[in-house]
Amino acid sequence: MTAINIAIDGPAAAGKSTIAKRVATTLNMIYVDTGAMYRAITYYYLNNQATFKDFDDMMTHVDLKLIYDEEKGQRVILNDEDVTDYLRSNEVTDNVSFVASKDAVRKYLVQAQQQLAENKGIVMDGRDIGTTVLPDAEVKVYMIASVEERAQRRLKDNTDRGIPSTLEQLKQDIAERDAYDMNREISPLVKADDAIEMDTTGMTIEAVTERIIQLAEAAQLN
Ligand code: C5P
Repeated sequence: MTAINIAIDGPAAAGKSTIAKRVATTLNMIYVDTGAMYRAITYYYLNNQATFKDFDDMMTHVDLKLIYDEEKGQRVILNDEDVTDYLRSNEVTDNVSFVASKDAVRKYLVQAQQQLAENKGIVMDGRDIGTTVLPDAEVKVYMIASVEERAQRRLKDNTDRGIPSTLEQLKQDIAERDAYDMNREISPLVKADDAIEMDTTGMTIEAVTERIIQLAEAAQLN
């Protein structure tokens, strides 16, 4: 069987990470959550912005690594500190699209992501994986769902994590973040020409996972 990479892109809260994790576990591949990498840089920016001249300057002081914990999964280590538990706060979410639009940030992270996937066996989710990070990925999926359903899913996630939020606020946040991500100059969120679009509205997690596994198994046989 051929070793492959799987790229999963799509707008906020479309279910990418839940599905990508399941696909990775089933196929014995490694899941890389690139949103968490942008969130980690945002967390650093929010705490240290006064120290640096600009984003280029800031990125020369950043050392970001991913490690994998048997129980907790992907952990993001920024300048030797495990920052993973701080990445889903409303403050980070509200600022991440701005930070992710910066050239110096994207250059650093895209290179790190490409290195992680060099030897294949990676399921990576994000916004620009199929278009920019892994244009040669053997399987590319562009996952969408209605804003209503995405906000409902995020509300459940946030409630489980103890993060305060309301459905109306989440709908607005999701729509704003999508618009920012789709309209930025560098690597905007867009479906790659060769990606398969999946509308997961009303679909179960199992059904979407199964569909991607079928695509991956077909690609592994090529
Ligand atoms: O996936 P998640 O919602 O955690 O991503 C947070 C933000 O990080 C996105 O809204 C987007 O601005 C940015 N991002 C990106 N490119 C990626 C992954 C995330 O620009 N590959």
